[in-house]
Amino acid sequence: MSALVLPATKLSELKDGLLSGPAAFLGSIFLSVQNVTEAVDLLQRTTSRVSTYLDVTALESIEDITTVLDAGATTVIVNNTQLHQLDPKTLDQDRVALWTTGVTKEEIIESIGDKSVGIFTSNVSDVAFVTAWLKEYGEEHPPVYVSFSNPNEEDAAQVSALGGIPVLPIASLSSEPSSTGSINLAKVLMAGAKSDRPDGLFTTLVVDERGTALGLVYSSEKSVQESLKLGRGVYQSRKRGLWYKGDSSGDTQELVRVSMDCDRDCLLFVVRQKGRGFCHLATSTCFGNYSGLSRLQKTLQSRKASAPEGSYTARLFNDSQLLKAKIMEEASELCEATEKEHIAFEAADLLYFALTKCVAAGVSIEDVERNLDMKALKVKRRPGNAKEQWLPSASEDTKELAIPTPAAIIQKSKEASAAADPSGKITLTRYDASKDDRAVIIEALKRPSQRSTEKIMGIVNPIIKDVQERGDKALLEYTHKFEKATSLTSPVLKAPFPESLMQLPPETIEAIDISFENIRKFHAAQKEERPLVVETMPGVVCTRFSRPIERVGCYVPGGTAVLPSTAMMLGVPAMVAGCEKIVLASPPRADGSVTPEIVYVAHKVGAESIVLAGGAQAIAAMAYGTESVSKVDKILGPGNQFVTAAKMVVSNDTSAAVGIDMPAGPSEVLVIADETAEPAFVAADLLSQAEHGVDSQVVLIAIDLTTEQLEAIETEVDKQANALPRVDIVRGAIDHSVTLIVKSLQEAMELSNVYAPEHLILQIKDAEKAVGLVKNAGSVFIGKWTPESVGDYSAGVNHSLPTYGYARQYSGVNLGSYIKHITASNLTEQGLKEVGPAVMQLAKVEELEAHRRAVSIRLAMMSSK
Ligand SMILES: *[C@@H]1O[C@H](CO)[C@@H](O)[C@H](O)[C@H]1NC(C)=O
Ligand SMILES: *[C@@H]1O[C@H](CO)[C@@H](O)[C@H](O)[C@H]1NC(C)=O
Ligand SMILES: *[C@@H]1O[C@H](CO)[C@@H](O)[C@H](O)[C@H]1NC(C)=O
Ligand SMILES: *[C@@H]1O[C@H](CO)[C@@H](O)[C@H](O)[C@H]1NC(C)=O
Ligand SMILES: *[C@@H]1O[C@H](CO)[C@@H](O)[C@H](O)[C@H]1NC(C)=O
Ligand SMILES: *[C@@H]1O[C@H](CO)[C@@H](O)[C@H](O)[C@H]1NC(C)=O
Ligand SMILES: *[C@@H]1O[C@H](CO)[C@@H](O)[C@H](O)[C@H]1NC(C)=O
Ligand SMILES: *[C@@H]1O[C@H](CO)[C@@H](O)[C@H](O)[C@H]1NC(C)=O
Repeated sequence: MSALVLPATKLSELKDGLLSGPAAFLGSIFLSVQNVTEAVDLLQRTTSRVSTYLDVTALESIEDITTVLDAGATTVIVNNTQLHQLDPKTLDQDRVALWTTGVTKEEIIESIGDKSVGIFTSNVSDVAFVTAWLKEYGEEHPPVYVSFSNPNEEDAAQVSALGGIPVLPIASLSSEPSSTGSINLAKVLMAGAKSDRPDGLFTTLVVDERGTALGLVYSSEKSVQESLKLGRGVYQSRKRGLWYKGDSSGDTQELVRVSMDCDRDCLLFVVRQKGRGFCHLATSTCFGNYSGLSRLQKTLQSRKASAPEGSYTARLFNDSQLLKAKIMEEASELCEATEKEHIAFEAADLLYFALTKCVAAGVSIEDVERNLDMKALKVKRRPGNAKEQWLPSASEDTKELAIPTPAAIIQKSKEASAAADPSGKITLTRYDASKDDRAVIIEALKRPSQRSTEKIMGIVNPIIKDVQERGDKALLEYTHKFEKATSLTSPVLKAPFPESLMQLPPETIEAIDISFENIRKFHAAQKEERPLVVETMPGVVCTRFSRPIERVGCYVPGGTAVLPSTAMMLGVPAMVAGCEKIVLASPPRADGSVTPEIVYVAHKVGAESIVLAGGAQAIAAMAYGTESVSKVDKILGPGNQFVTAAKMVVSNDTSAAVGIDMPAGPSEVLVIADETAEPAFVAADLLSQAEHGVDSQVVLIAIDLTTEQLEAIETEVDKQANALPRVDIVRGAIDHSVTLIVKSLQEAMELSNVYAPEHLILQIKDAEKAVGLVKNAGSVFIGKWTPESVGDYSAGVNHSLPTYGYARQYSGVNLGSYIKHITASNLTEQGLKEVGPAVMQLAKVEELEAHRRAVSIRLAMMSSK
């Protein structure tokens, strides 16, 4: 259960790690920590008495964040880089929230990916944006924390009413009715509460600290306000108005915490009941007296206060040797017990003596249970081995019982790598094919898991529908929203493109021209000069000829990088194939303009238009057409997961009648290196893919390298990575990347074919001979003088390649992607005589009489002549 309102505080405002004032009863605190020492110190002082939400964006290392979680932080607020570095396997997603400036929903969801972590929007000035967003999300969203640039009651109440969690400075919170400047905490808390009663009161469950229900009462905003102000149970009586519990009976309640249930129609008051009990009948609860451990504790506590002289319990409290002997005796008896009932009997005895020890020392069951909850928050598990003295012999019982799964072994290898490099060296995790199990190797080669398609589809589907229905209007709205290009008035730029939009430095023009020409040449050579003609039987001629796809849409991603290369890789083959209409789509910049490189390429390939839009909306516009965007027959090009999802949706919709190139995923490279490989080149090639994104993956297969040779590569990876501007991204990618150590080229190629890499780099002697062994790969780079980057830009080969193992069944983009093949048959009379009887027999078998007759009628005509 997450907080309802988070009081933001500073260390100096805490006493013993706790708050005072009305906010103390929220049971949660939020603060920003500067270093790990400070955080752990705080957590030790708060122990487990409050839930702690810590902004850890200032912590430099991931180990520090893990330490903070381990020390019992309820939730840590991390930035995007940190989020991607946290290991999803060991991470409890409920305990992490992403710190964000809260700009667009798309950005936030993209950075969260398939994790269901919370969202912390900081310094919000436009609360309308956040509330719109919460409304759109509906009820089922991860926790959304909202801190305001100008905190006030109205904004906080609005966010709370929509199920968001306002983060409010402690000093602004008050238990008094609203007055200028201060925020009435009860008002914000109750803004989200729903009453299902005609009198508008809120059902309130009162429990003790162990969660045992004491009774049911009713609250109003006013009674909650009084409760928070006085720190005791105050409720709203249906008959008598405000009810200060215990004022007449003396059985008062100390308030511990106020919270609300999941659908916000029931308040929960956690209290420490004084006097005889909650009920007016003087029982502990309105459902009778306590039972079980609570009853035992109550008895022990009253015995401790006044034990009858000479009673057994009094002896136990007085004689620590006796108590120790009893605990050991009962523990031993519990260990001997085998029957269910016997075990229950002995466990009860042990609990009795254990609780006596606690009560004697002033420790309560609540303290013990808080300690248990705290242990459940540990991220780093304790080994759980017993101390030497309790072990029958040093060997047997300490052995690990379970056979570790491949995933567990991989986790261990990663930890070992991390431990070997406490400095946080950027290094790939090593596996040795001759030592590690085959299943472990295959598991290590798995791509990082993809984002949940459901979440993405939930965003993409409405956008597609909207563009399909409202055309240009919707398209422009999305572009204004997502690209912030609010000045844009038309979503399309039609050819001829004005010179003024393609002003480029001469050296860029030259580079584009050279690459353009190479790509053109290579694709032109893929053209089929003449149709394929085969005479299958005398007089039966079958032909196959190609025709360009008439209208193609080329999607060029925008965002962080300018990608004229993608425009060329997509546009040039379309031009060579002879497509009649080439539409380019690319998200505009915030000022509404397109990068001049893309306009220049569009001009060179003879594009009909440039659609100034990105994401799912651009794909939808090209798939269905709008007032100004031309509908296309096929959409090609890479993109983020929204683009990919949109392509899948439109290609699946028969009413769109549009094809797509191939499923796309994060970039990847596999480098095979032997002792002739240059360590610096190997490292550079690995890093050139790792810098694409944190979900990229790179794999090194090392053939029979010595430890020194392997270390030389690893040293280069770390050195070069740290010198890169995108080192954070690289670190994330390397985190799920691996080195496989194998003995032979055959073994290396076999594993490479299993992985089916997008890019395969062969840095081995006689590299071209190994090409014969390649079964699955998008594009191969042969020998030490062929870095993968040449293929990305200028060599001539296409860089739109199948990822995520799709190289097993897909080719990269090539001329064939822009054409389709048509077949034709042409029979002479003689030909039909030859093949006709076979056709008629098969038609008969399939009971398709009209088929049979189409032949027989002709044969009859021939014989009647
Ligand atoms: C941690 O931060 C606190 C408060 O900012 C500071 O007093 C302390 O010296 C810091 N400790 C370390 C080890 O940097
Ligand atoms: C996230 O925080 C870490 C540690 O303070 C910092 O090094 C990194 O640059 C931050 N990343 C972003 C995207 O703000
Ligand atoms: C918060 O936003 C306001 C404007 O809305 C700005 O003036 C202020 O600098 C921001 N504060 C931080 C810490 O970013
Ligand atoms: C409940 O317990 C109290 C003392 O703890 C006892 O006086 C009372 O009789 C009990 N009531 C019932 C209904 O058991
Ligand atoms: C504890 O036991 C000792 C010796 O048996 C006795 O003198 C002392 O009064 C006892 N204390 C209490 C609190 O019962
Ligand atoms: C494709 O269409 C089918 C039938 O309409 C639907 O069940 C399926 O979910 C669709 N797939 C995608 C990726 O949209
Ligand atoms: C490269 O990929 C693009 C599309 O991404 C395609 O148009 C082009 O034909 C491909 N080039 C080669 C040489 O395969
Ligand atoms: C069909 O075949 C006949 C005889 O083989 C030939 O004369 C004719 O040109 C062919 N027609 C076409 C369209 O290929």
